[in-house]
Amino acid sequence: MTFESNIRPIQWSGDHVKLIDQTVIPYEYKTVDIKTWKEMAEAIRDMIVRGAPAIGVSGAFGVALGAREFLDSKNREEFLQRLELMAQYLKSTRPTAVNLMWAVDKQVNLAKSVDGSISEIARQLEENALKMLEDDIEINKRIGEHGAEIIPQGATVLTHCNAGALATAGYGTALGVIRSAYAGDNSIKVFADETRPRQQGARLTAWELVNDGIPTTLITDGMCGYFMKRGMIDVVVVGGDRIALNGDTANKIGTYTVALAANAHHIPFYVAAPYSSIDTSIETGENIPIEERSHEEVTHINGKSVCPEGINIINPAFDVTPAEYITGIITETGIYIPSELKQAVLSSV
Ligand code: MRU
Repeated sequence: MTFESNIRPIQWSGDHVKLIDQTVIPYEYKTVDIKTWKEMAEAIRDMIVRGAPAIGVSGAFGVALGAREFLDSKNREEFLQRLELMAQYLKSTRPTAVNLMWAVDKQVNLAKSVDGSISEIARQLEENALKMLEDDIEINKRIGEHGAEIIPQGATVLTHCNAGALATAGYGTALGVIRSAYAGDNSIKVFADETRPRQQGARLTAWELVNDGIPTTLITDGMCGYFMKRGMIDVVVVGGDRIALNGDTANKIGTYTVALAANAHHIPFYVAAPYSSIDTSIETGENIPIEERSHEEVTHINGKSVCPEGINIINPAFDVTPAEYITGIITETGIYIPSELKQAVLSSV
């Protein structure tokens, strides 16, 4: 069963992209017009659009916008060279979520494979970006339907960060599971971690779920063990930014701590993510690049410093949860225990 959710963070307007500005929710709702590939690169880097599948689709549109800008190239060779340079830059804007590399590489490979004029290549890149957007929504609905099966009747589900409609082209991965489960059982409840330092849980997950009318309690990141010990959380569902073939999963910083607490309390811990979040080039999570973000994200809240000057800061944006703490990975084709994932993914390509 699917739930009605109309949040669409990325929209194509015929010649430019409209992004919901995720840096200002919930104080303000506004969209930003993205007309060039450089504007798209900045929007991804500055987290106007964020969340692994959402930045993948945005990257694909970035390539399509760039292709339009490169139509003045002397010939096909120059056009493809410019496209490749742009692709490198786009991929460097957020290094952890593999969906960005997946989508941009797919676009570049498509461009190279088209046997036609450069305007025909540009046309196909636009068409393909639109297809990726629509596919992502459908994939999330399938993830939601599979995932709903593991949510017990009347359960309280803990989620971390925002893996909702805003983090994807629509519907969401972890929140897609929650939406689909809620469509079949409106007695389920959600606990959302606030997700320091950027508060995606407090600002975005809470905003989505309050708008949907799904009963949600916001907690700070350090509280999950307390509620687990008191039997108030039945299952954890989070998204994923890069999943290795053995199931090790990079997701928003703090996810690993939640997984450890869930394991200690024998609470099932699921990752919900599309195949595009699985990095088929890595066997384990050992070598997943972890993005370091600015110190200001830690030192300041709403532009105001919350700590003394001179304090040391480290700000990794993601951590890697080892497969041994993951009960299952919910994908568009079904739910796999981590040791089954490699076989499932490799047999699908
Ligand atoms: O830094 P962000 O906001 O892009 O991080 C997002 C997350 O970690 C999400 O949980 C993840 O991308 C899964 S999104 C469906």
